[in-house]
Order: sequence, then C-alpha cells, then structure tokens
Amino acid sequence: MIPRRKIELKTTAQMQTMHRAGLVLHRALDAAVAAAVPGTTTADVDAVFAEVLRDAGATPNFLGYYGYPATICASVNEEVVHGIPGERVLQVGDVLKIDGGCIIDGWHSDSARTVVLGSAEAGTADPEDERLSEITRQAMWRGIAAFATAKYVSEIGAAIDDFVSAQPGAPLGILQDYVGHGIGTAMHQAPDVLNYRSRHRGPKIMPGLCLAIEPMLVRGGLATDVLEDDWTIVTRDGARASQWEHSVARHAGGLWVLTAPDGGAVELEPLGVAPVPPGE
Ligand code: MF3
Ligand code: CO
Repeated sequence: MIPRRKIELKTTAQMQTMHRAGLVLHRALDAAVAAAVPGTTTADVDAVFAEVLRDAGATPNFLGYYGYPATICASVNEEVVHGIPGERVLQVGDVLKIDGGCIIDGWHSDSARTVVLGSAEAGTADPEDERLSEITRQAMWRGIAAFATAKYVSEIGAAIDDFVSAQPGAPLGILQDYVGHGIGTAMHQAPDVLNYRSRHRGPKIMPGLCLAIEPMLVRGGLATDVLEDDWTIVTRDGARASQWEHSVARHAGGLWVLTAPDGGAVELEPLGVAPVPPGE
C-alpha cells in the first residue's frame, strides 16, 4: 500500500478566491509575454511580471520558494523549467518558457506559457519549435478537457499522451521527471499529475479538486540534468523544450480554468467542454 498524501478539496468560495489569483496571474503573464522581445533580458521580463503582481496586491509564490531568487521561472531553449531570470539577452528564434504564480488571501495560482521569439513564416524561427509549442499547448488543453469528465487523475495524462503520440511528423517526447500537481493553500500539493499514460489510475476525482496541469514536451530524449545553479533543468541532449500550464478546478457544477478569464471556454468548447464558474 502506497501511503497517500491528503488531498485538499476546496469550497466554492475558496475556488473563487483562487480564480482571483488566477486572473492577476493571467494579466502578469500577458505583460511578461509582451515584454519578451529580442534584446531584453530575462530579468526585465521578471520585473514586468512582478510589477503587475505588486500593483494588484498579490504576493509572488515562486520568490523564496526553497530559496528561489526570482518571481518567475524563465527557461530558454534547452532549459525546460526552473530557469532563473538574469542578464541573459533574448535572441530572435529563442524558445522562452515563462512560468509564474501568485497568492491572494492565502490561495495560490500557477501558470506557464511558451513564447517562440520570431516567426517561421518570416524565416526568423524554426518551424519545428513553433510546432513543439503548439502541440504542447494543445496537449495541455486535451488534459484539461479530460479533467472535466475524468473519474481518476490518471485520465489526464492518458489524454495528453494519446494526443501527443497521434501527431504526424517528428515524434515529441513527454518529460517524465517533472509533473503537474495539486494547488490551493500551497503551490505544490497532492496529487501528482502525470503527463503520460500510467498503469496506476491515481486518486479518484472529487468536487473541489484543483490541479496545475503542465505538460512539458521535448524535441529529443527525455533525460534531464540540473545546472550548477541547482535550479535550471536542461535536456541532456540540448534539444529544445516547451511547457504550458494552467490551474484548473473541478467542482460540483463542472470545470473552470482558474488562470483564464473565460474559464477556458474558447479552447474547451471545440473539445466538447463548456466551462462553468465555481458556484454556478
Ligand atoms: N510552477 C513551477 C512548478 O510547478 C514552480 C516553480 S517553483 C520555483 O514546477 F521556485 F522554481 F519557482
Ligand atoms: Co506548476
């Protein structure tokens, strides 16, 4: 018997507060993405993100987390996650992952996006990098859509895995060393949310379960290393990686993406899911 960590189930009011934290985070990520242009540093992007949190009265949750020294993670190219913002200057063609979060009234949000600087059409970005990011983004939405009706947490990873495996063209790998997680009064809670098929069905899904769903895909092998800074995770073979993440609530009335202003409606409706805000 595997000891199970207790899962925190949220009330309607708590999920509504998490959505407030999610909306601030959404705006901060919009500003960070807009700031992430060639010639700026990843520290500049961090500062833009941090300012939106400050103006909204939200507390950063990454800063100081096990000593983490910044407000966002900014991971470039072969850096998968947990890259520390600094003096690195962004270049045309870079693949930047911006991962951030915040706390409002004690409740956490966590979300990440990938930005490909430049465009394949204009010849300034690699079309395979754009494809990597787009498939990762869509895989995240498949996982979120599965969460809307799933009985067990493992159905999320199965949906992500099936979608990624079915893509024509160069195969993409799903990272296994890092996974999604429960979120609520802490950024990282039980349960783990795998991004791939597993024979363990995982915990049963109950109303009030809130998860950060965050597939990480790579163009090469699945092996990763931690850099000297003890934070930055890179692919061992140097292949480029993408990450997309949303915090999502399952409640008595349905599913709501806490880190999207429309609860995910635009992306989920084509997948047959109509999001419902907590309390409706
Ligand atoms: N969103 C990140 C994750 O879920 C959290 C990064 S924690 C930090 O893995 F300390 F690195 F910021
Ligand atoms: Co996360």
